[in-house]
Amino acid sequence: MTILVTGGAGFIGSNFIFYMMDRYPEYRIVCLDCLTYAGNLATLDPVMESPNFRFAKVNITDREAVFRIFEEEKPDIVVNFAAESHVDRSITHPQIFLETNIIGTSVLMDACRRYGIGRFHQVSTDEVYGDLPLDRPDLFFTEETPIHTSSPYSSSKAAADLLVLSYYRTYGLPVSISRCSNNYGPYQFPEKLIPLMIVNALNDDPLPVYGKGENVRDWLYVEDHCRAIDLIIHNGRTGEVYNVGGHNEMRNLDIVRMICRELGKPEELITFVADRKGHDLRYAIDPAKIYRELGWCPETKFEEGIRMTIRWYLEHREWWGTLLQRGDLQKLYK
Ligand SMILES: NC(=O)c1ccc[n+]([C@@H]2O[C@H](COP(=O)([O-])OP(=O)(O)OC[C@H]3O[C@@H](n4cnc5c(N)ncnc54)[C@H](O)[C@@H]3O)[C@@H](O)[C@H]2O)c1
Repeated sequence: MTILVTGGAGFIGSNFIFYMMDRYPEYRIVCLDCLTYAGNLATLDPVMESPNFRFAKVNITDREAVFRIFEEEKPDIVVNFAAESHVDRSITHPQIFLETNIIGTSVLMDACRRYGIGRFHQVSTDEVYGDLPLDRPDLFFTEETPIHTSSPYSSSKAAADLLVLSYYRTYGLPVSISRCSNNYGPYQFPEKLIPLMIVNALNDDPLPVYGKGENVRDWLYVEDHCRAIDLIIHNGRTGEVYNVGGHNEMRNLDIVRMICRELGKPEELITFVADRKGHDLRYAIDPAKIYRELGWCPETKFEEGIRMTIRWYLEHREWWGTLLQRGDLQKLYK
């Protein structure tokens, strides 16, 4: 069994590679990543020398290079994590989101059609459903909730989802899609909320919180997400969408306060900054379908997961310190 994992030098993709290599030592894993600012080859050091692992520096929009890898590896399953993933950057530079997230996905599926595939799995996001009001805690996103995007990022992911479902209907490509809520855990680039706050707090830098910090996200420990994808690619039905979420809604401000408490840092570090344009208020996933069909539910409680995450960043200062030293990333980080 050969699994082609795109975007495996990023946050969730690398965690997925570690999870799969540990769980299925007999599988071959081929990681395809073009190493944008968000990709870090050093993350893959622990598996780089493994005989059943291969890394290829390839852009998923490069049709020729992608087809060559398919020709050489003949993957049984493709899991597409590769994406531009940061909403803020999609607001300032939307174009690259359309190229990678939409065109890149179509190139991968064209290669799947050409060479044959057991499963093409698209890693998508709950952001395709738009947002929910803060005063309606009874509302959740189900797989039937209409697509209603807010940012160029979520629009590009929604466009890719529609394309994936059209390849199923039109060409019979065996596809599946998971739409997951916000992930947290080791190896997340320190531009996203949780690692940014941990790293800034450790450096005694200000902790910038959008608006009043009231936006609500449904947080899931990354390993729980990896387990959900593992179940879907092996046992999930083709042509189906599965929502993946933790039933763990938290306000941004409460998360930042919790990080301050865990690190023994003063809440005075918190600074409220002008809100993100078009900022979604609340995301909340109803994961009943994946529970019913595949028996998946989250295993890591938030209190436990956030402590493991903080401990990981404390013990891996070199990993994020090196990233922050990179000249091209300093401006972005600031
Ligand atoms: N992080 C979350 O909370 C979350 C939640 C739900 C869904 N997702 C989805 O999961 C996937 C992975 O997210 P992440 O947080 O790990 O992202 P990330 O930004 O940490 O990693 C993305 C990876 O993709 C690579 N990449 C980008 N463009 C590429 C291209 N054109 N060709 C090849 N490689 C390319 C990058 O180098 C990087 O290694 C994304 O599709 C994202 O939409 C993320």
